[in-house]
Amino acid sequence: MSLLETKDLVKTFGEMHAVDHVDFIVEEGQVLALIGSNGAGKTTLVNVVSGLLPADGGSIVFKGENITAFTVNRRIRAGIARSFQLVNLFDQLSCLDNVALAIFSREGKTRKLGTFAERDREVWREATDVLHQFGLDAKRTMLAGGISQGERKLLDVAVAYALRPKLLFLDEPTSGVSTREKAPIMDVVTAIVRSERITAVIIEHDMDIVFRYSERIVVMHQGKILADGTPDEIRRNDTVTTTLLGSPVGAS
Ligand SMILES: Nc1ncnc2c1ncn2[C@@H]1O[C@H](COP(=O)(O)OP(=O)(O)O)[C@@H](O)[C@H]1O
Ligand SMILES: [Mg+2]
Repeated sequence: MSLLETKDLVKTFGEMHAVDHVDFIVEEGQVLALIGSNGAGKTTLVNVVSGLLPADGGSIVFKGENITAFTVNRRIRAGIARSFQLVNLFDQLSCLDNVALAIFSREGKTRKLGTFAERDREVWREATDVLHQFGLDAKRTMLAGGISQGERKLLDVAVAYALRPKLLFLDEPTSGVSTREKAPIMDVVTAIVRSERITAVIIEHDMDIVFRYSERIVVMHQGKILADGTPDEIRRNDTVTTTLLGSPVGAS
């Protein structure tokens, strides 16, 4: 049984078929890259699977359970988390509090912001550990709005990771950072997902990064899945190369 299986999944915006009858399968333990040019439907697919947007048709099965009608929170509890193409952080809170807030929300607890970190030592400790795993120890007390773009991207992944997902969607974890910063971010993220046995779906534009870090690649084009295979198969796939590699893949 696959970890995730969408069947005939549809999401439209007026006339735009952003996700057009998509059967998207993710096997447990994979690090999968989801690629495709700007507007291909990648983010929309992730939005529908993570529950941010309702599907207009089709179904989503996760760990054998039909989750199509689940709320975002129920999907998080089932084990699906995601980071955002444009980071989704509380800029006025410290890096530590951003992570702690995710842990509290995972536990279904609510606290007054600004006081919870001292009150709950266990959460505070876990949040500290998560920041450590992501190499952000030194930024603990800094406001999320005051760290570099590369660090913000990492922190956004750390927040999603703190939800302890089984399946983690990363929507362009290296977008907006310099080429030099991309590999270090991917090194940290992929080391963590592999050691924690998290299945990851990474949307990424940089083909060097895609070929280097993923073991399977799914290509989307105009709302549909155009190809699905190993990096070697995708490299040799003429349809993919003429459709996507003629122009820079996903220059958004
Ligand atoms: N909330 C929205 N309202 C209207 N159109 C949208 C919305 N979100 C995405 N789209 C459209 O759906 C298509 C797919 O977008 P998106 O999923 O963001 O693509 P990608 O992430 O592959 O670049 C695009 O044509 C985009 O303009
Ligand atoms: Mg996108």
